[in-house]
Amino acid sequence: MRTAVNLSIADHLAEGPKTPREIAELVKADAGHLTRVLRFLATREVFREDEDGKFHLTTAAGLLRKDSPLPMASIVGLLTDEMYWLPAGKLEDTVRKGTTAFPDIFGSPLFDYLAEHEERGRVFHTALDDLSATENGGVVAAYDWPEQGVVTDIGGGQGGLLRAVLTANKGMDGILFDHESVVREHRLDLPELAGRWSTQAGSFFDTVPQGADLYLLKRIIHDWNDADAVRILRACRKSMAEGGRVLVIDTVVPLGNDPHPSKLSDIAMMIVFDGKERTEAELRALFAEADLKLNRIIPTTGSVAIVEAIAA
Ligand SMILES: C[S@@+](CC[C@H](N)C(=O)[O-])C[C@H]1O[C@@H](n2cnc3c(N)ncnc32)[C@H](O)[C@@H]1O
Repeated sequence: MRTAVNLSIADHLAEGPKTPREIAELVKADAGHLTRVLRFLATREVFREDEDGKFHLTTAAGLLRKDSPLPMASIVGLLTDEMYWLPAGKLEDTVRKGTTAFPDIFGSPLFDYLAEHEERGRVFHTALDDLSATENGGVVAAYDWPEQGVVTDIGGGQGGLLRAVLTANKGMDGILFDHESVVREHRLDLPELAGRWSTQAGSFFDTVPQGADLYLLKRIIHDWNDADAVRILRACRKSMAEGGRVLVIDTVVPLGNDPHPSKLSDIAMMIVFDGKERTEAELRALFAEADLKLNRIIPTTGSVAIVEAIAA
């Protein structure tokens, strides 16, 4: 997948099917080797070969185009980056020691590393913003947002979720909170949102914006071990307005043996972040330690659910 993305194969097939030789000439690659990669990807419905040996775009392959409205190329780039596969190669050590190998390999935990390496930070945050773009509509549609009030997106990245919430709820104002290096790349500057948002830089281990009605934590709590997750929840609990709510937006691991996206993503969290996907019972326990109470779990059309907590 990474090779197909880096060689822009999907972009080259946008105008019609081509033989591997034609593609190889365009992208300066070896036609025989390229054929074998495309033949394998076709078994996963990424590209399709016809009887004349020409390869076509499929729905999945179309998402790898640079101009796709739901761009997946950046996500393929991140999940196949050495930031993921080098620690994945140390899974046995990780399981033995009970903590990620990331800092041993890269010199510091992932988020510190991203702040220190601007280009890697851009790879991570752009991919997360693109991934969020596939989920934000479902999150906004699933929740009964208040007519007015302040919503703070904690660790909100480049602001895709906040942008979607404010666009759908004209009476609400918003604060985007994340590291300085992240909020300065925000994508909130839309004319229709003028005057309704601000950004605040900082670490959620020190403080979070005071007095908001809603604290969004999307794909945040799963990045951290229990002790750190409780610190983040406590910071929100301490700062929230009376009657405020905390919305943890993560996948919730179901009981039983059936496949579920959370069970794979959980392994990625273990490998890269020292984090975890959690069951409902595990989330209840975290909230209790932060003087919060799980109120309800609202499914969305995507793999994440909205887990709403109120003051205990
Ligand atoms: C997995 S990303 C999720 C981003 C966004 N909420 C989303 O769903 O796309 C985690 C975010 O937490 C931010 N983050 C990590 N450590 C942080 C800290 N100590 N304080 C504030 N933000 C932090 C990262 O910069 C990143 O934007």
